[in-house]
Amino acid sequence: MKDNPTNLYGDIFSKIFNLYWTDFIDIIHPGIIKCFLDHKQITVDEVITKREYIDNIGEFEKYNVLDLFCGTGRLSRKLLNSGFNVTGIDLSESMISVAKQLSNDQITNNKLKLIVDDARTFQLGLTFDMIVATFDSLNHLNSIEELEMVFDQVSDHINSNGLFIFDLNTARGLKYWDFIDVEDYDDATFFQYGKYVAKEKRAYTRVTGFLRKEGSELYEKFSEVMTNTIFPIADVIHLLEKKWSKVICVDLGKFEPVDDPEKLDRIVLIAHK
Ligand SMILES: C[S@@+](CC[C@H](N)C(=O)[O-])C[C@H]1O[C@@H](n2cnc3c(N)ncnc32)[C@H](O)[C@@H]1O
Repeated sequence: MKDNPTNLYGDIFSKIFNLYWTDFIDIIHPGIIKCFLDHKQITVDEVITKREYIDNIGEFEKYNVLDLFCGTGRLSRKLLNSGFNVTGIDLSESMISVAKQLSNDQITNNKLKLIVDDARTFQLGLTFDMIVATFDSLNHLNSIEELEMVFDQVSDHINSNGLFIFDLNTARGLKYWDFIDVEDYDDATFFQYGKYVAKEKRAYTRVTGFLRKEGSELYEKFSEVMTNTIFPIADVIHLLEKKWSKVICVDLGKFEPVDDPEKLDRIVLIAHK
């Protein structure tokens, strides 16, 4: 068992996450594909791009992507559909286990590798054309030192002309993290309680609920607390600029450059080697 001291993203929550936390990847995936096409100066038929990049883009087959903090592999599978070879890393055995169940064919075809490991310390001895880390993943780190550890690993695993793309919740986004949300489905009921703690500069989300056991009328209970740390975007850019030649901050929806990232709730950073 890898070191996962907070025991987050356990068995039941991993299933819930995969079933009901689905929108984010659909939003960020087209931007990631567009970025890679621009970076490699690949021109594709406009019809393909209008289909939200889900079709196989032949040129991608020679490129390798690392989906760091891959979770249940939702983005990995979209990148596979676009043609990339993908490696996914996540600290949670349960998340990787769901990802494996959903991606059997691609694993068999050697298009996808899924690994349980820590983004702060992993060492694959390989390099990639693009590394992505999506959906608040880097906000889960506890300090700027941990963020720098991840950036160091990413630098060690990127090709000389590689791209690193990740999103972050900003201070503005996390300061308004006070909410209660209840969701009720046929097989699951859960609520989320979000709270910003000013003195810690962190937001917490407790997710508690029940998921129906497969083939049974019994429900299993789960409860987890997720942490989101605020990282001042100027500090993050400063760290990246030590090792990356160009760093751009864009908005999540259109991937257009933003002048003042702290005015948005969430941003995407794109670093070029
Ligand atoms: C919000 S989920 C995002 C999953 C996926 N990227 C997505 O977009 O659906 C955050 C993921 O980060 C993983 N994680 C947290 N800390 C980690 C670490 N130190 N190393 C690797 N994965 C980690 C969790 O297990 C979880 O799967």
